[in-house]
Amino acid sequence: MTEAAIRMIGVNKWYGEFHALRDVDLEVARGEKIVLCGPSGSGKSTLIRCVNRLETHQSGRIVVDGVELTDDLRSVEEVRREVGMVFQHFNLFPHLTVLENCMLAPVHARKLPRTEAEAVALHYLEKVRIAEQAQKYPAGLSGGQQQRVAIARALCMKPKLMLFDEPTSALDPEMVKEVLDTMEALAREGMTMMVVTHEMGFARQVADRVIFMDQGQIVEIGAPEAFFTAPRHERTKSFLQQILR
Ligand SMILES: Nc1ncnc2c1ncn2[C@@H]1O[C@H](COP(=O)(O)OP(=O)(O)O)[C@@H](O)[C@H]1O
Ligand SMILES: [Mg+2]
Repeated sequence: MTEAAIRMIGVNKWYGEFHALRDVDLEVARGEKIVLCGPSGSGKSTLIRCVNRLETHQSGRIVVDGVELTDDLRSVEEVRREVGMVFQHFNLFPHLTVLENCMLAPVHARKLPRTEAEAVALHYLEKVRIAEQAQKYPAGLSGGQQQRVAIARALCMKPKLMLFDEPTSALDPEMVKEVLDTMEALAREGMTMMVVTHEMGFARQVADRVIFMDQGQIVEIGAPEAFFTAPRHERTKSFLQQILR
């Protein structure tokens, strides 16, 4: 039996009184690329942050690569080892070089010897086409370059799946493409990906399925072609009209 990459079954999450995720059911196959869109505050970040337990859910089940996320810290550690995450703000350490940023987690969390961690880091920096910047500090790089480093840093942990939370929305427009191209290359290599983005060109090109969320619920989910040309729900239609204007 092949286990799904992610299974969410009847997941609910509250922030205090606020019901942030409502009965979310979702199964993501291995190698599948999911794009998540929806208005601000609809729960997109909350949903993907629940997948590596940066947020905890209060009911329902979340199973990542066969491991159920529970209060047991071992399950959380196990899942986090397999899940890479890239945020809107790159969160690179400013006092470490690009190379050191990429070596940090492999050395400390995976206990890789430094020489080996360095080779891994250079390999992935090469992949995101930024190896020549390895000795620089983040501040010396453009936003697009920093985000590519952040992607390389996540890949250095050899994750089985990657979560992206609006990876291009803090970038100047001219840098969006280089980051999307990097993500597209990763997708082509077969990585399982969940991407919160409003880059609908990317969604059309790369996504196997697109999800529209509103008010903590998955309102609609479908293949990009159907999703964009024939959305079924009024809320999806009006959202798409706004962002595709
Ligand atoms: N730590 C938090 N405490 C309280 N409310 C939160 C917290 N994080 C998010 N929320 C609320 O949950 C809702 C969903 O947030 P979020 O998942 O960030 O939405 P999105 O990513 O779609 O913009 C929003 O109304 C937001 O204000
Ligand atoms: Mg968000």
